[in-house]
Amino acid sequence: MPGPHAHDRFSFTAQPPDVPTIVRAEGVELITSDGRRILDAAGGAVVNNIGHGRTEVADAVAAAMRDLGYVVPIWPTPNRLELIDVLVDRWLPDGFDHVFLAGGGSEANDSAIRLARMYHVARGDERRHKVIGRMPSYHGATLATLAVGGHEARRSGYEPLLAEYPRVPWYDADALAGAIEAADPSTVSAFIAEPVIGASGAALVAPTDYWTSVSEICREYGVLTIADEVMTGFGRTGRRWGHDHDDWTPDVIVSAKGVGGGYVPLSLVSAGNHVVDPITESGRNVMFFTYSGHDASCAGALVVLDILQREGLIERAHVQGERLRRLLDDALAAHSHVVEVRGRGLMVGVELDGIASATVVAEALARDVWIYPAGSGPAVNDGLLYAPPMVVGDDDLDRIVDVTAAAIDAVT
Ligand SMILES: Cc1ncc(COP(=O)(O)O)c(C=O)c1O
Repeated sequence: MPGPHAHDRFSFTAQPPDVPTIVRAEGVELITSDGRRILDAAGGAVVNNIGHGRTEVADAVAAAMRDLGYVVPIWPTPNRLELIDVLVDRWLPDGFDHVFLAGGGSEANDSAIRLARMYHVARGDERRHKVIGRMPSYHGATLATLAVGGHEARRSGYEPLLAEYPRVPWYDADALAGAIEAADPSTVSAFIAEPVIGASGAALVAPTDYWTSVSEICREYGVLTIADEVMTGFGRTGRRWGHDHDDWTPDVIVSAKGVGGGYVPLSLVSAGNHVVDPITESGRNVMFFTYSGHDASCAGALVVLDILQREGLIERAHVQGERLRRLLDDALAAHSHVVEVRGRGLMVGVELDGIASATVVAEALARDVWIYPAGSGPAVNDGLLYAPPMVVGDDDLDRIVDVTAAAIDAVT
C-alpha cells in the first residue's frame, strides 16, 4: 500500500486527509481500503453506466492489448472499424457518417470547436470563429473549452488566457439571437450547449421549445450547433442522446464518459455530412491526438455499448430516473433549503439554496454515499447531481434518498 501522505502527491488539488482510497468496485458500490462500501450515486463523475466490475470489458481490453499495442490513429484496426460502424449504424442520427475519436470530453469539445472553424474556412467563410456558450455550463479544461464554458470557479485565474466570446443565459433563445447580432453574425462559428446541464448546473433542463428555437436561430445565421453530450450521451437521460428529448438535430455531436462506461478513456465527435464534406473536399483536416481511438479503448467501448443495449439499460435509466426523482421530491420538496428536484433519466439534480453542495456531499460521503457536487462557483444553481450506474436497484435508490435527507439535515 502507498504511504500515508500519498494522497497529497497525486494531483495539483489539495485533498482532505480523510479522502478514501478505493481498492475495488462492484455493481453500484466502491470498496475502500478499510472495507467501507460506498454507494456510487454519481457513477464517479457521471461516467459509469453499466455498473462496476464487468469482467467481460476487462477481458476485451486485455485481448486487444495482447494482440496489438499502439497503432497511429490514421491506420484502421479491427476494433476501431467495428466501433465506428456500431456508432454510425446504431447510435448516431441519419446522415452522421463520420466519427473522430479522442481520449476525453475536453479533447472532443476542443476538436468540435476546431471542426466548426475548419468547416467555415473550407467554405471560404474565414471571418467566422466566435463560439457562443451558455451560463452556466462546463465543456472541459482546455483553454478553448474553458473559454466557451460558463463554469466560473474552473475558469478563475485563467481569464487572460481565454478568448472572450459571448455567453448567454442557459434558458433564453432570444438572448442567443441577440448575442449573435451583437457579435456580428458573419463572425460567429458555432453555439455549444449541453442538452441537460451537468457539472455546473445540477441537471438543468431548458424550457419546452428552447432547442427548436435555438436550432432555427442558428440555421438562419449560418451558425453550427454543437451538442455537448459528454454527460448526456449513451442513454444517461433515458434516451440514446440528451437531444433526443426535443425536436431538433444538432450539426455536431460530442460525447465521452458513457461510451467507455468509465472502463476506458474514449470520446468522440461526429457531425452531419453537410459539415464534414466541405472539409474533406477542400483537402483540409482536423488534427487528431496521439491517443485518438486507442484500440484497447475501442475494444472496451464495444462491450460497454453491447451491454447497454443487450440489457435494456437505456429504458432502465428512464424508469429508475423517474423513480429517483419521485423519491427525492417526496423526501425533500418541502425542505426550506431545497429549491427544486429535476433532471432527465438517471441524470437527476437537487438545487440547494443557502447551503453549499460541497458540505452536503461531505456529509453524504461520511454516510457512505457519493454524490457529485454541482455548481459553477457563484451560489446560483448550486446543487447535488445524481447519476448512478443504470443497473441501480430500488433499495439503492431508497438508500441514496435517505442519506441525502440526513446529510441536508446535518448541514442545516
Ligand atoms: C458536459 C461536459 N463536457 C465536457 C467535459 C470534460 O470532459 P473531460 O473531463 O473528460 O475532459 C465534462 C466533464 O465533466 C462535461 O460534463
